[in-house]
Amino acid sequence: MRILVLNGPNLGLLGTREPEIYGRVTLAGIVESVKAHAAERGVEIVHLQSDVEGALVAALGKARSSCDGVIMNPAAFTHCSVALHDAIAACGLPVVEVHISNVYRREGYRHESLTAPCCAGQITGFGPYGYILAFDALMEILSAKTVNK
Ligand code: DQA
Repeated sequence: MRILVLNGPNLGLLGTREPEIYGRVTLAGIVESVKAHAAERGVEIVHLQSDVEGALVAALGKARSSCDGVIMNPAAFTHCSVALHDAIAACGLPVVEVHISNVYRREGYRHESLTAPCCAGQITGFGPYGYILAFDALMEILSAKTVNK
């Protein structure tokens, strides 16, 4: 089984970016911990971070035929991207949306997600651990224990 971890704009700066909001764990650290968690369960992780909306759309398109599910933090595109909404809907895979911060405790414009309605679910506010929670949720979905695909 192969899971795509997809991270959007500015997440490559994790570790030094607004640490009071996002903490000090780097993106490489997050990806390593998800890879280790997945490897223990015999699952392969492929990762892409991009600041470019089209690259994220293309990655979702490619995942259709190469992956079983997606863990995605669309970052700021969460709140504005119809293109990502459509790409998630089109990819036909279960997608779990992750946010490191609790977006509902922040500015009003972060309370709307254009992407979440096409996702199996959303995990927000648990820091880097959210990616592990998302992985476990995907495993649950893919093992068909739940119908929320
Ligand atoms: C974020 C929340 C978004 O509102 C913000 O634009 C980000 C990161 C999070 O992980 O908490 O870049 O997705």
